[in-house]
Amino acid sequence: MTTLERWSLHLAALSTGATGLLYGWLRYYGQRVGEFGLESHPLQATLQHLHVLAAPLLVFALGMVVRGHVLPMWRNGKAGGRRSGVALALILAPMVLSAYAVQVVVEPGWRLAFAWLHGVTSLLFLAGYGVHQWMALRQPRSAEALEGDVSLNPS
Ligand code: HEM
Ligand code: HEM
Repeated sequence: MTTLERWSLHLAALSTGATGLLYGWLRYYGQRVGEFGLESHPLQATLQHLHVLAAPLLVFALGMVVRGHVLPMWRNGKAGGRRSGVALALILAPMVLSAYAVQVVVEPGWRLAFAWLHGVTSLLFLAGYGVHQWMALRQPRSAEALEGDVSLNPS
């Protein structure tokens, strides 16, 4: 993984995760009683827009990392960080697809089901990301990590 890939990923995960957590909090716990009954929090729409704008940056960063990190690490078979890495990789598709499903389905029951799926997989992603970083910090840096993108430097 190159320095650019690593930092794009960290920053995109941080901004998508933070905006997503705040948006979810305001959406489900931020309602207020206004003049005409229950109203959304005034910042909810802003957080929703920021989350929807930050999310593609994470998807781009993940795309880079699949080629430069996930596939080489999958093939290299090193034990440390492997379980958390594989778990993280498996969560990506349901997390991303359920997010877009939330926006495109019309039936309220399906919207709620995909919102749950997105919420749960996103929390698992954030927890898995933390565990994977912890495992990575405990590893001696591999040749791949030191050299950058192994897929561009096959040995
Ligand atoms: C990284 C952790 C993430 C967290 C904590 C998070 C959190 C949330 C929450 C709480 C919602 C509201 C769901 C609902 O309507 O009840 C949401 C919606 C959404 N998220 Fe995420 N999300 C994350 C990652 C992503 C990713 C990777 C994408 C990329 C595709 C994404 C795209 C979206 C979209 C498009 C919506 C629908 C917005 C709407 O129309 O309401 N999120 N997210
Ligand atoms: C098959 C799946 C995966 C495996 C086997 C794996 C394995 C590893 C290992 C062994 C390390 C320790 C550093 C090294 O030796 O290079 C590491 C670091 C890291 N992994 Fe993964 N990983 C996987 C998937 C992922 C995914 C899906 C992500 C992102 C969502 C990710 C993000 C990272 C990051 C950011 C680091 C720290 C990189 C650095 O500081 O150079 N990994 N991974």
